[in-house]
Amino acid sequence: MDMEKMVNFCKNYGFIFPGSEIYGGLANTWDYGPLGTRLKNNVKDAWRKRFIQERISAYEVDADILMHPRVWEASGHVSSFSDPLIDCKECKMRVRADNLVNDFTGDSSGDAMNDDELISFIRDNNVPCPNCGKSNFTDVREFKLMFDTKRGVTNDSKSTIYLRPENAQGEYVNFLNVMRSMRCKLPFSIGQIGKAFRNEITPGNFTFRTIEFEQMEYQTFCKEGDDSSTYKFFKDYGKKFYTDLGISEDNLRFHDHEKLAHYAKEACDIEYKFPFGWGEINGTHNRTNFDLKRHMEYSGISMEYLDPLTNEKYVPFVIESTYGLDRTVLALLFDAYHEEKIEDDTREVLKLHPFLAPFKVAVLPLAKKYHSEKAKEIYEMLSKSFMTSYDEAGSIGKRYRRADAIGTVYSLTVDDNTLNNNTVTLRDRDTMKQITIPLDEVKNYVEEKIKF
Ligand code: GAP
Repeated sequence: MDMEKMVNFCKNYGFIFPGSEIYGGLANTWDYGPLGTRLKNNVKDAWRKRFIQERISAYEVDADILMHPRVWEASGHVSSFSDPLIDCKECKMRVRADNLVNDFTGDSSGDAMNDDELISFIRDNNVPCPNCGKSNFTDVREFKLMFDTKRGVTNDSKSTIYLRPENAQGEYVNFLNVMRSMRCKLPFSIGQIGKAFRNEITPGNFTFRTIEFEQMEYQTFCKEGDDSSTYKFFKDYGKKFYTDLGISEDNLRFHDHEKLAHYAKEACDIEYKFPFGWGEINGTHNRTNFDLKRHMEYSGISMEYLDPLTNEKYVPFVIESTYGLDRTVLALLFDAYHEEKIEDDTREVLKLHPFLAPFKVAVLPLAKKYHSEKAKEIYEMLSKSFMTSYDEAGSIGKRYRRADAIGTVYSLTVDDNTLNNNTVTLRDRDTMKQITIPLDEVKNYVEEKIKF
């Protein structure tokens, strides 16, 4: 399926809508509809289960989006969170110089170049503008990616605050609070799910690159020396998380970074094979003790850990593993979407992991006139345990098709047998096989299937 078809699919079935659509839309903003919101929440729950619930010494926080401006000075974002931009003097198209070089060379060599190297390469090789094909560009200018706003009544520079461009700092500034309140010993982890904002100059590809997005971030604080094994562990744990969610391994790959940020010791992305090419959905980084040391320097508060075994004091290393929630949802949609020929028809089916499916069961009265009362009773009963939908409109075949297209795990048909024998028919989304089971077994049967 190509991107345009996915955008239409998501809109038609209530997964994702264009942002502010009745006003003509706001470029690169997207609103999650009823089914997209459910899917996104289920991904968050899956992450919470694997990263918080199932891991010893792992804690979730929910830090504010607005943080003290010094946080962003300490993190380095104020001075250096920017993209190298150039404008085509012929057609005025604005592009990222590093992306232009990468597209031209077919590798990631642009990532390793500074601004002077980028423009020299572009001019020496007559790299063409992707829009008009000419090669006549301005010098590189650094474009700031953080959104800022003013706090209070004055508009001076002292009142500038930022919308966070990543979640991570919320975890770092709460390192001491979590460690003390939860009585943590190293290693321990702090995770957070939340919005981040970046003034991306070249957003696009649906929800892949937007200006407002959600991240599921995870920082593991450990002793120097244990950092590389911890980094390796989370690289593999991340890939397993994605395959556990049902993403095909063939559509995933690691991309180890050649050019490392000055503070990073090791870094790697997990990429998914989107229709436009491989794209990063997760980043795992060995950030050494750079962030905590910087916060120690800028806040004047010690971030040292007193090792109870050795009595040594040191600033812990941090292994960060960040999952882009919107990109993960997009990858899941592409991976789950199938078109299958059945007789002279084609069915669309979203083979999402049952845990992720927006609805687990669709309750369908066979004949509205005779079976809807009982079907509504069943809906009320099942919806206490999991997300259930109710649909009495149209032929049973059409209702199956809609349930398949939105990934509903089972279609439950209510017919005369239900009224007479208290049995129902359950149709499996993936195999389309039907079984008849007693109504009072449905809840356990479905709950077993939707475990993660
Ligand atoms: N704290 C580390 C950090 O933020 P990042 O690689 O800049 O690292 C992490 O971002 C993840 O956030 C990426 O792997 C991606 O999934 C997601 N992400 C980054 N920028 C995004 C954007 N503009 N739109 C959607 N998702 C984005």
